[in-house]
Amino acid sequence: MPAIVLVGAQWGDEGKGKATDLLGGQVDYVVRYQGGNNAGHTVVIGDNSYALHLLPSGVLSPGVVPVIGNGVVIDPGVLLSEIDGLAERGVSCERLLISADAHLIMPHHRALDKVTERYLGRARIGTTGRGIGPAYADKITRTGIRVQDLFDPNILTQKLDLALREKNQVLTKVYNRRRIETAPIVEEYLAYGERLRPYVADTTLVLNRALDEGKVVLLEGAQGTLLDIDHGTYPFVTSSSPTAGGACAGSGIGPTKISRVIGILKAYTTRVGSGPFPTELRDEMGEYLRKTGGEYGVTTGRDRRCGWFDAVIARYATRVNGITDYFLTKLDVLSGLERIPVCVAYDVDGVRHEEMPMSQTEFHHAKPILEYFDGWQEDISDAKTFDDLPPNAQAYVRAIEEMSGAPISAIGVGPGRDQTLSIRPLV
Ligand code: GDP
Ligand code: IMO
Ligand code: MG
Repeated sequence: MPAIVLVGAQWGDEGKGKATDLLGGQVDYVVRYQGGNNAGHTVVIGDNSYALHLLPSGVLSPGVVPVIGNGVVIDPGVLLSEIDGLAERGVSCERLLISADAHLIMPHHRALDKVTERYLGRARIGTTGRGIGPAYADKITRTGIRVQDLFDPNILTQKLDLALREKNQVLTKVYNRRRIETAPIVEEYLAYGERLRPYVADTTLVLNRALDEGKVVLLEGAQGTLLDIDHGTYPFVTSSSPTAGGACAGSGIGPTKISRVIGILKAYTTRVGSGPFPTELRDEMGEYLRKTGGEYGVTTGRDRRCGWFDAVIARYATRVNGITDYFLTKLDVLSGLERIPVCVAYDVDGVRHEEMPMSQTEFHHAKPILEYFDGWQEDISDAKTFDDLPPNAQAYVRAIEEMSGAPISAIGVGPGRDQTLSIRPLV
């Protein structure tokens, strides 16, 4: 049985956590392949709500093996508190596997993330401040520290010393911050290593063997297509590859093993942090979507910026991810509106664009061309099948499907596990 990728189709927070959890009962492994604790995935099970940052959402499904792949950046202190927090609530992480090759977020990464943002001023990215960008930067410049380094005190000391030699110059001389000493950090991280040791494995080998045995592997992306370092709205992006291609590099699974790519698509659009957002509503309608949809960041508590559904972005996500199925979430949030605008194309300096404009400047100038759909007044949160939806809600879904260019195979009508309409099986 091949691997399945689950990816956010917009700017994150599409409902990936809920979707992963929903598929949890049908898969054997759930793998995070990029990002770190910048992610915030909410899973609601009955009366319990869980906010996961580093652990794959599959950790909540009995029998599933959750895996943190090599492409993830791990803040070990945060990971351990997440594991402890779940244990207190009766959720065991004993099956968790962590790649020995995953890179670590170190204290200087967190310090640099905060201080560089401050220096960018109005041009700031609006990062989560968790040290994600600086950790990936060190990975690429080949000065990163990996999970496996926690098991060799000499190597850890050498690598950290080398990294801090440069970082301390930058922190103290450029940014006027305090220097960071090697010894206490080595001690702290060796202690993390001791606690993490039982989970650490050659995850690439484990996952490929599992696929050979016919097991189902779900690769759970964090963030979203438009936050991708290559395909997103650069530079207002995260520092990894959430798009489907990133799932291979970040887990060690070859592209020939992937049979399906599920895009998670919100029935409207949200974004956290800075950067262009053509359908953004800066008025009371934006506030209405934020309140009705509960659009507040799981990680930073920031208000999410809200806007109408953007079909140009959905088409783009279909293209760059090779999406085979969409899971449309939060349709219930649109109930009660008189009419629902959808962005079908952009007007860029007087020219109509059906597809994502090529340059950043054009995208910054993009004005949404809206088409209006009749709304529905009924509460749809108890709907069980597509046919239970009011005709106008059905028409809205069909229109979005047509514009996005891939079939909508499931629809979310509430945060709960059972508030999902299945149109065709996803596994
Ligand atoms: P993720 O980062 O993609 O996992 O998404 P978040 O968890 O950050 O944000 C999605 C929010 O929407 C969470 O609070 C979910 O519980 C909630 N949610 C997911 N699907 C639905 C849905 O279909 N309807 C409603 N009303 N809420 C949903
Ligand atoms: P999930 O997985 C929404 C955004 C930040 C910022 C940019 C870069 O819950 O969908 P970073 O700290 O990654 O360097 O910040 O990316 N961002 C997210 N926005 N959902 C997320 O994760 C995000 N993770 C990062 O707000 O604009
Ligand atoms: Mg989120």
